[in-house]
Amino acid sequence: MSDASLEQSLKLLREEAGMVCHSASSHVIIVFGASGDLAKKKIYPTLWWLFRDKLLPSNTHFVGYSRSNLTVDNLRSNAMPYLNAKDSEWTQLDEFFKRNSYVQGSYDKPEDFIRLNKFIVDNFSACSNRLFYLATPPSQFISVATNLKAHCTAESDGLWNRLIVEKPFGKDLDSSEVLAKHLSSLFSEDQIYRIDHYLGKEMVQNVVVLRFANRVFSPLWNRDNIANVVVTFKENFGTEGRGGYFDEFGIIRDVMQNHLLQILCLIAMERPISMEANDIRDEKVKVLRCMRPLSLDDVVVGQYVADPENGKPGYLDDPTVPAGSITPTYAVAALYVDNERWQGVPFIVRAGKALNEKKCEVRIQFKDVIADILPSGAVHRNELVLRVQPNEAVYMKLMTKRPGMGFGAEETELDLTYNRRFTDLKLPDAYERLLLDVLVGSQINFVRTDELREAWRVFTPALHALESQRVAPHPYPYGVRNGPPQSDEFMRRLGFTFS
Ligand code: NDP
Ligand code: BG6
Repeated sequence: MSDASLEQSLKLLREEAGMVCHSASSHVIIVFGASGDLAKKKIYPTLWWLFRDKLLPSNTHFVGYSRSNLTVDNLRSNAMPYLNAKDSEWTQLDEFFKRNSYVQGSYDKPEDFIRLNKFIVDNFSACSNRLFYLATPPSQFISVATNLKAHCTAESDGLWNRLIVEKPFGKDLDSSEVLAKHLSSLFSEDQIYRIDHYLGKEMVQNVVVLRFANRVFSPLWNRDNIANVVVTFKENFGTEGRGGYFDEFGIIRDVMQNHLLQILCLIAMERPISMEANDIRDEKVKVLRCMRPLSLDDVVVGQYVADPENGKPGYLDDPTVPAGSITPTYAVAALYVDNERWQGVPFIVRAGKALNEKKCEVRIQFKDVIADILPSGAVHRNELVLRVQPNEAVYMKLMTKRPGMGFGAEETELDLTYNRRFTDLKLPDAYERLLLDVLVGSQINFVRTDELREAWRVFTPALHALESQRVAPHPYPYGVRNGPPQSDEFMRRLGFTFS
């Protein structure tokens, strides 16, 4: 897709949804934690791409805020390796950074937020919509939100204040409730955007269309035909300096309780009444409410160790990881949706760092056919695979006659690989879509409070049990295909067939 057609389709999307930005004289996007990792790797690059592609309202300004003593030039050089700016775009890039400013301040002193507010009013307009991006560690969310509400929101009628909150949204059910209660005492649900960037990925967004715009799938989408569903997340790198953050959370909280569970909900939910944000989120919540809490019997955890053959370090070799940590870097879990459609079907979610590749996919494995007219073992199960990344694809594994004189059966694929089918494909980054969603006021790809509560209800018992019983993770060498050997055994026990 060319840049122009991408812009056109995003405009169309906004019009179709009947959403237009309010007619404030300007928009100000304020990034808290502007000195940080997420800001340089994701937020500034995304703002730049949206600016470059003219997808932002015309009078939009960007204010970075953090405690460090920085300039806009520092923000620019920090983000530079991630901006992907072509030589021909340098003039535009200069224009983008001219729209940026930086305010140094604390996350807890009211006077700093009063000063930030004055900066916005003096430099832009009192009549600006304000988008606050909370890219600080979660420990700062409550104090930033409190000070924002008290001293830094746009007050006139017709102006909006919106708050993007990054994960993790708490560490368990109780801490998440504390955060949710605090935020909802300050801001209304329609002002809070809890970002889960997996919801902005092309193939995740495709699930709803694939399921509900194709007659062929609906009769099969149930326990009578589906043996299991596997949602996989793999990364071919370890914590690499992010061990401090990671060790406090572990792979289940980092990836499974949010990104993978969101995908699972889209796969399992019933047809929503409409494509409105709340209709879709209502259906996701119903799935979560039908889920049993995860028990320790239904989870296997692992932690990567050094592989001397490829010279890669183990998790505990990372100097930012506390000695003797038992935090899982790999987990596989079986979740069950106890409703009429899915009773008894395991939804297997697995996620791991330091594996052999970076990949995320959904694999729907269908039940065996009665294959008695073909030799035993010749027929493999059908599978529908949605490859989220890399190289987006939808493919169906099915049996065909081996071409030629014989009559053997062979497994083949009906393959829709995006970059072969859609030439000139330029997919927007997940963060691009999501930031645009916030600007147009669409909550469709953001996590509602009740969804979050249910997600924690499912995972909290197992997380607490792992921690209180100090369950030792199974070791696996850096770079293996699928975590510890216990993981494949677990999947076999659940009825997954490795072909
Ligand atoms: P950082 O650790 O880089 O923190 C961001 C900024 O917050 C820092 O530059 C620092 O700015 C300030 N800060 C750091 N530690 C503290 C502290 N203890 N007390 C007060 N301020 C502190 O975080 P990230 O940018 O990696 O992440 C930001 C948010 O985004 C987090 O909630 C994280 O979980 C989430 N996230 C991050 C991802 C990533 O890839 N990095 C991916 C998905 C989510 P200063 O000292 O200048 O104020
Ligand atoms: C983040 C996790 O939410 O997602 C990281 O905190 C992980 O640990 C990242 O690396 C993966 O995102 P993506 O888009 O690169 O697959």
